Amino acid sequence: MADAVPVRLAVLVSGNGTNLQAFIDHIESHEINGRIACVVSNKRDAFALKRAEQYGIPTIVHESGAYADRRDYDAALVAILRNHDVQLIVLAGFMRILTDVMVDAFPHAIMNIHPALLPAFPGLHAQKQALDYGVRFAGCTVHFVDRGTDTGPIILQAVVPVFENDSEETLAARIQQEEHRIYPEAVRLFCAGKICVDGRRVRVSP
Ligand code: GRF
Repeated sequence: MADAVPVRLAVLVSGNGTNLQAFIDHIESHEINGRIACVVSNKRDAFALKRAEQYGIPTIVHESGAYADRRDYDAALVAILRNHDVQLIVLAGFMRILTDVMVDAFPHAIMNIHPALLPAFPGLHAQKQALDYGVRFAGCTVHFVDRGTDTGPIILQAVVPVFENDSEETLAARIQQEEHRIYPEAVRLFCAGKICVDGRRVRVSP
């Protein structure tokens, strides 16, 4: 049987792009049957853009300045992604909240990673929220994006311990190691057609 056609991905970034790098590595090693059709950044100086360019991946800077509001910005973003025939959109440190315009255009086809064990500690500064609360375990969550903030159906989670002397930075670094493991795994499962959403439950076929 011929190999399945690679799934066309868009990765949306704003910063360093270590998660983008993890996807690139897993695609290069053929663990993910996907192809990054474009990397879109809302920040011109995002290091993630440089990472993409090194691999010849098309990059697009989509800044918010020219748009009247978030919905307008998202409508233009939808057009960019449709032009690239994208099947899965992966948010990897994209520091914007999506409006219904984006979410409704790609139902169950936008993934995000959040550096906490959702539904605990949604929103910004999740690691600080976890430390301030005094939890013994923290972690990260890959989920589909719905209209809420960090509320969509959960695909995968990973747990890390919190140590007495942890700072926000040490905890974030421990969580990121797990991000680089479970986020490519979630994308791999999607590209292999093994994920299906049943209400709030995400079923992963063996
Ligand atoms: C990740 O740590 C993730 O938890 C959060 O944004 C960060 C992006 O990091 N959503 P990077 O740009 O992939 O290095």
